[in-house]
Amino acid sequence: MSTESTTSSRDLPLPAAARRAARLAGSARVPGDKSISHRALMFGALAVGESRITGLLEGEDVLRTAAAMRAMGASLERSDAGVWTVRGVGIGGLAEPADVLDMGNAGTGARLLMGLVATHPITAVFTGDASLRSRPMARVIAPLSQFGAEFLGREGGRLPLAVRGNAAPTPVTYTLPVASAQVKSAVLLAGLNTPGVTTVIEPVATRDHTERLLTGFGADIAVSIAADGVRTVRLTGQPELRPCDVMVPADASSAAFPAVAALLLPGSEILLPGVGTNPLRFGLFQTLREMGADIALENQRAAAGEPVADLRVRASALKGVDVPAARAPSMIDEYPVLAVAAACAEGSTRMRGLAELRVKESDRFTAILSGLAACGAAVEADGDDILVHGAGRPPAGGATIAANLDHRIAMAFLVLGTVSEKPVAIDDIRSVDTSFPGFVPLMNGLGADIG
Ligand code: S3P
Repeated sequence: MSTESTTSSRDLPLPAAARRAARLAGSARVPGDKSISHRALMFGALAVGESRITGLLEGEDVLRTAAAMRAMGASLERSDAGVWTVRGVGIGGLAEPADVLDMGNAGTGARLLMGLVATHPITAVFTGDASLRSRPMARVIAPLSQFGAEFLGREGGRLPLAVRGNAAPTPVTYTLPVASAQVKSAVLLAGLNTPGVTTVIEPVATRDHTERLLTGFGADIAVSIAADGVRTVRLTGQPELRPCDVMVPADASSAAFPAVAALLLPGSEILLPGVGTNPLRFGLFQTLREMGADIALENQRAAAGEPVADLRVRASALKGVDVPAARAPSMIDEYPVLAVAAACAEGSTRMRGLAELRVKESDRFTAILSGLAACGAAVEADGDDILVHGAGRPPAGGATIAANLDHRIAMAFLVLGTVSEKPVAIDDIRSVDTSFPGFVPLMNGLGADIG
């Protein structure tokens, strides 16, 4: 038997390091919004007719969703100009996939698709990379079981996991026990092929891309917000979705990385065109402004039923702030890069209510603490809060950070290396392609030194 290694260059880690840059300047369009891209492909694949999607994020995560929708019978094609044409199968028309659906690193793809499968008379098996296989799925299994779907997974409902959908589901009313747009969306997508009204009650509002985009595709969705902020979403099942032309805004979660680097490098000024400014996604920018950031929203407009603007970001002296727990859902993916900004700010920043960070692509709660400490920043945990004690200048840097298959940890620490005295290295940046293909050339085009 041969003992030769079968490892290809694709399987090898790709290390990178960021060195301090002089300043950032210029204009750069960050890729399309990941949350909206997943949803645009799914809803197009359920519509009757042909939808066209422009500005789609062509990152690994979204391409997995495209492959899964193809495996369930929809037709999805990309033109050379980057326009995606999706011919849908109609609500209730999903076919049983002939093979395992490998969702890679994509929690959103996996959880939302489980919602769709739950109310179709098909069985699908989901798997993913080591990160996705470690993430909790019980949070979607619980409500989707109420539709009559059956699940067989590993301990904690972890992937690989099989879902057998129910051919005759009845609607569910579900109150979210955790503030999660993925769970909300999984329930609403299960409700699409369920007669009657499916209701999701969210004590704290989460990103509403599912509601906005499904409305654009012709679904009947009613949202009410009580005086205490509790949000109730009612979806009438079995609509006929009409095809839609969707222009996906640039991803605010991706814009966060060049924006924070520009804020921290004196003399910088950059323009990030066409960024989504949905208030349920814009908590980081609100927080940065409270810290003293000069961020202007120019040319405000709408795309795909979402508010959009060009962001002009100028270098600013930042000060520490207290970030309330209620804001966490509107900036849940941005804490790693906010922590980097806080480490460079003057004074302490307390980021409250971060329990959910422990179950993201990696344990981001721990990664923020250990990564910042390794770079010489003063940082501590207090229950579910993280405190960063900024010294009014960047920490020293000079560490190698393990990305642990987490794109946002990799990018956040490359931003730190872009402003710190000594370089910051990442052991493997391949995960960056899940949400931000072209991150390194985009940053270097603005003046960063990453390689
Ligand atoms: C997402 C919701 C968030 C976020 C993820 C994308 C979505 O996850 O972290 O990157 O598209 O609905 P949770 O719903 O688990 O908070």
